Amino acid sequence: MEFMLDTVNLDKIRYYQNILPLAGVTSNPSIIKKEGKIDFYVHLKKIKEIIGSGQLHVQVVGELKEEIEKDAQVIVDNLGKETFIKIPVNEQGLAAMKTLKSKGFKVTATAIYTEFQGYLAIAAGADYLAPYYNRMENLNIDAAEIIRTLGEEIKRTNSSSKILAASFKNVNQVNQACRNGAQAVTASPDIFEQALVMPSIQKAVTDFHDDWRAIFGTEKIYEL
Ligand code: E4P
Repeated sequence: MEFMLDTVNLDKIRYYQNILPLAGVTSNPSIIKKEGKIDFYVHLKKIKEIIGSGQLHVQVVGELKEEIEKDAQVIVDNLGKETFIKIPVNEQGLAAMKTLKSKGFKVTATAIYTEFQGYLAIAAGADYLAPYYNRMENLNIDAAEIIRTLGEEIKRTNSSSKILAASFKNVNQVNQACRNGAQAVTASPDIFEQALVMPSIQKAVTDFHDDWRAIFGTEKIYEL
């Protein structure tokens, strides 16, 4: 499983880079907006410095095929050709994907709400597919089932596309995505915090510590 951070907050990326088996960082314009008016390329280059060989997924803003392609070109010119270009799966996005894939760009097909968008993105050769888990649930769409069927399609067609499930609001949604075959997930820092800073985990750690101290009178094994 590949775990990615869905944020461009430098402090959070630095913090979790040291903690998680982090495969990369994903962003979109709404995520970038949360940081205020950053210097776009300078900021994303700082992320690249922090994550080293980790992946960076950057979303286009242009809506027409030619605009998407121009956005993609300036993104790789500034951030490197290893950058994954996130492109929404609609008519213009699919058209741009065809061209960009034929030119060797790395593509993450995003804004996936339906099974059919997923099938098209697989056929277009997208490297990653980003189904929007929570947004699908809000529309009463069975996100887990869509991830499962897209996984089957990837196997059936021997495709190299991977499912990068996104848009999570709780840990259970992440579990469901993993359980149903997503090869990668991207989640905001608060989801990792929800998962790892549970009172029961801390209670177990504290109880073990107390029991050690009660037997040996030291705080650490190396103090014996
Ligand atoms: C990531 O690739 C997506 O753009 C993101 O997870 C969407 O999340 P949201 O539904 O919380 O906006």
